[in-house]
Parts: sequence; structure tokens; C-alpha cells
Amino acid sequence: MCKLQYVEVPLKERNYRIYYGYDILACCVQKLKELTKDKEVFIVSDSNVYAQYGSLLEKLLRDHGYTWDSHIIRPGEKSKSWQEAEIILNKILEKNLSRNSALLALGGGITGDLAGFVAALYKRGMTFIQVPTTLLAQVDSSVGGKVAVNHPLGKNMLGTFYQPAAVWADLSTLQTLPQAEWVAGLAEVLKYAVIKDEAFFYFLEEQADKIWSRDAEVVPHIIRRCCQIKAQVVGEDERDEGLRNILNFGHTIGHALEKATGFTEYRHGEAVAVGMVGALYLAELLGMVNRESTDRVKRLLEQWQLPTTFSSSLIEDVLTSLQYDKKSLGKQPVFILPEKLGKVVIKRDISREIIKQCLIKLVK
Ligand SMILES: NC(=O)c1ccc[n+]([C@@H]2O[C@H](COP(=O)([O-])OP(=O)(O)OC[C@H]3O[C@@H](n4cnc5c(N)ncnc54)[C@H](O)[C@@H]3O)[C@@H](O)[C@H]2O)c1
Repeated sequence: MCKLQYVEVPLKERNYRIYYGYDILACCVQKLKELTKDKEVFIVSDSNVYAQYGSLLEKLLRDHGYTWDSHIIRPGEKSKSWQEAEIILNKILEKNLSRNSALLALGGGITGDLAGFVAALYKRGMTFIQVPTTLLAQVDSSVGGKVAVNHPLGKNMLGTFYQPAAVWADLSTLQTLPQAEWVAGLAEVLKYAVIKDEAFFYFLEEQADKIWSRDAEVVPHIIRRCCQIKAQVVGEDERDEGLRNILNFGHTIGHALEKATGFTEYRHGEAVAVGMVGALYLAELLGMVNRESTDRVKRLLEQWQLPTTFSSSLIEDVLTSLQYDKKSLGKQPVFILPEKLGKVVIKRDISREIIKQCLIKLVK
């Protein structure tokens, strides 16, 4: 039996492992029998990812005696919809798959969120395995069980919590990821350092160039550390009722910016990069952190060519969108603000005036 490195997500009777490493897919498929005795598998993927890795996955399944069917979506947020979920549900219902059959989500966060949503609904929950192929999905979206589809009235508006039985993060798949997608994932990597681990922040600063160029020695380290932090936070607050909020560092302004630009101008990670700088400006305005912390975060984001400002024409739209954030209480947005690098607090009662001052600092 092959050996795999993993991080465990501690959820008592629903513990699961995030397996990670280069070229681990064969070994993961070999271990599938530990998760289900059923030999029928259903794959959800997007056309870019399936063109790269579909035939490998199919060959491995065949070699281990599985049969499969698949549904391949068009890349992009439009596919993360109720309509697409219904098409997939119809397909697996027509096949009458058992709830023990495995649904494999091969792709980025869009594929994983959509497939997880389907897995949660099918016969009240079928075996679900995340096979993330973007950096963002490997460090963030595949872990923690948040699954959702978009609605015309908002992103991720229909969703639930449904944990996978395992995550198979094959780092070899990252080699074909476009640089802009790699960099967008780095914003989430930096997020983990700022919320929980100052030493990890130093590591990111020291290794910034190697990280940018996906050095094969540093990549496993950053995946492991991010997954450890996410697993710990999710283990303590699976349902997002308290601590898990800290994972939203940079996301309050980030989401508002995505919304204000119709989800077309910024990748999620790019908007989060701007939002993290915004959160640091807010913390500065409230006297919580010194300027040096903000400068260091900005420097690292700029070194990775992530945005740290937005267009002044968007200020009013961003302010309005902030009031409609999913996590707002009343119209009061919730912010995750650093006290220092490696430690954040949740703040709810920041005046519109201070928020506006922060946004003014953020514009080009
Ligand atoms: N569930 C959660 O906890 C959570 C957390 C963060 C983000 N998200 C969601 O994740 C989504 C964004 O995910 P994403 O950034 O992974 O985007 P994505 O799934 O759209 O993937 C980005 C692009 O990269 C391509 N791609 C993926 N893997 C590839 C590979 N290995 N080689 C070549 N191309 C590849 C895809 O086809 C796509 O064009 C958003 O919908 C967001 O809401 C969810």
C-alpha cells in the first residue's frame, strides 16, 4: 500500500484527511476502497481541467475496477448555478447511483462548490471527494465543507455545510495552472499567515520569489501549513458561528469589490488582496496596528503582482455593497482586523465615516 502525507480535519465522527503531495492521484484512487465499497463513481470537472487530467483519472479508475460517468461544466462562475446542479442531479438519479457511490470533484473551487452542493442533496448526502487542482482550492475551498451555488441575487446564496470524505490535493496538477490563478491563490495563503501565524508570514517573505515560481520544495510546505490552519479553525467552529469568521480576513471589502464590479473584473483572490490591505488600513485608523505591518503585507502582495488598490469610481458602489454582505448584522458590516501579524479580532461596530476613510486610502 502506498504512503501519503496528510493533514487531518478534526470533526469527531466525521474526521477526514487532506492528502497532499506530487503525483499522488494513483495512490489516492488505490485508497478509495477505504471510503466506499461501491464501484461506481461520478466525476464532476470543468473542461479545462478535464482536458488535462481527465484521461489520467479515468485510467486510474479503470485500473482499480471502477466504472464511472462524468459531467463536464464550462469553466466560470456561471456554471456554479442551481440549473447546473439540477442537470447533474438528474444524471445521477437516472443512473440510480447509490448514496455510497463516490462523487469526485476534479477542479478548482467552482467545481468543488458545485459538486459538493450536489453531493449534499443527492439522497440526503453521497460520498464526496474533493480533488482540488487550483492553489485556492487546495488551501481553502476544498477544506471545511462549505458548498454552494450562486443565485442571480447573490454569490453562494444557496448552500450548506457538507464535508468531503477526503481531499486529494495532487500538487502536480498545479504545474498547468495559469500564473494569474496561481497568484490569486497566494492571496489566500497570505491570509492564513496574517490571521494565525507570524512565523509563516516571515517564511512567505523570505521565500517570496520561490513561491512565485512554484518551487517544488516550498509548495508542499505552504499547502501543509494553510491546510493545518484551516483544519484547526474548522475543527473548532465547523458551522461558522464564531472563530471561523477569522477566515474572512480581507473578504468583507473583497466581496464588496467583487459585487461592485459584477464579479467580472477581479478574481476572488485578487479582490481579497485589496480587501486585506483595506482591513489593515482600518486597523491602522483604529490605532490597532502600526504602519509597518501594513507596508509589509502590501510589499508582499505587490511582489506577487496582486492588486492593492481599486478605481476611485467604485467607492460608492463598494460602500453600498458592504451593507449587503452576507455576514452583515443589520447594515453593519463585520470586519476581521489584525492586532498584529498572526493575530486578528472580529469587529462589528465601525462607523461609516471610518470605513469611507479606509476606502479613500485604497483608491488609485
Ligand atoms: N467553499 C469554500 O470554502 C470556498 C472558499 C473560497 C472560495 N470558494 C469559491 O471558489 C471559487 C473560485 O475557485 P478557483 O479560484 O479555484 O476558480 P476556478 O474553479 O474557476 O478555477 C480557476 C480557473 O483555473 C482553471 N484550472 C483549474 N485547475 C487547473 C489546472 N490544474 N490547470 C489548468 N487550469 C486549471 C479552471 O478551468 C478555471 O478556468 C469561487 O466560486 C469561490 O466562491 C469557495
